[in-house]
Amino acid sequence: MKIALITGASSGLGREFARQIPKLYRKLDEIWLAARSTDKLKELAKELPLPVRIFDGDLTRDYIYDRIKKELERQSADIRMLVNAAGYGAIGDATDIDVPAQAGMIDLNCRALTKMTLLCIPYMSKGSRIIQMASAAAFAPQPGFAVYAATKSYVYSFARGMGGELKSKGIITTAVCPGPVDTAFFERAGNTGNSMKWKFMSGPVEVVHKALADAANRRETSVYGAAMKAARIAARLLPDRLVIRLMRADSKKQNKGDERIR
Ligand SMILES: NC(=O)c1ccc[n+]([C@@H]2O[C@H](COP(=O)([O-])OP(=O)(O)OC[C@H]3O[C@@H](n4cnc5c(N)ncnc54)[C@H](OP(=O)(O)O)[C@@H]3O)[C@@H](O)[C@H]2O)c1
Repeated sequence: MKIALITGASSGLGREFARQIPKLYRKLDEIWLAARSTDKLKELAKELPLPVRIFDGDLTRDYIYDRIKKELERQSADIRMLVNAAGYGAIGDATDIDVPAQAGMIDLNCRALTKMTLLCIPYMSKGSRIIQMASAAAFAPQPGFAVYAATKSYVYSFARGMGGELKSKGIITTAVCPGPVDTAFFERAGNTGNSMKWKFMSGPVEVVHKALADAANRRETSVYGAAMKAARIAARLLPDRLVIRLMRADSKKQNKGDERIR
């Protein structure tokens, strides 16, 4: 059975991947969706043109991986596309955000993504794709978003490194690095206030469209929009301490905006 497996499918970018993948990958038999919100996954299933299997559960816990593995075995699944989109961020200085929220970010963004990838690889074959949702936050350390940016650097590095290992198996990995995207992400992350982040907000439809096109074209990274491409080049060319100073200035502007909103 040929399947696509998408985590974080109940909302935002994951949901958009679920909508666009069947249009591009026409030989899929089923689409498998994972996230905690059962109702939202069921709603999404109604609009998809393929049979859907729902794995509702917390990806920071072990039971959901056991369920997925059992089903992969039972169906002799061939995963043609894995999208790891479950993730969250928390805006603010690391000392101002509660510790469980920050540890949870590392658990979900890094540990869960790694576990899911390693679980799925034995069920993938030549031509299968892995899409890892990193972020433009991976390009440089970010004061005011420090833990999140560090988790996304991990995702980027893991995707590129493991992508290098998987090439010989014909499995293509794409690290997707968008700037801010208009999803529920910022409801959980907190307000971007006055931050320049707002100015570069893009939509999930075009970010996902580009990510799928880049994966189809065997690209190792997918960066949507001229502004984020420029940010990536700037982060490579400028000294780290200058980038960090600029980011700090922006995060202070953001905090001022937040104070005004409060
Ligand atoms: N939006 C942006 O600006 C942006 C920019 C760059 C990168 N990204 C990355 O893109 C990915 C998707 O973000 P998004 O913008 O689509 O955010 P979103 O709309 O908030 O979606 C996040 C998804 O993750 C799932 N999720 C959260 N905690 C989970 C858990 N413990 N177990 C299982 N699923 C969990 C959520 O589903 P449930 O709540 O139902 O579990 C939801 O489906 C994330 O990795 C994010 O870091 C986002």
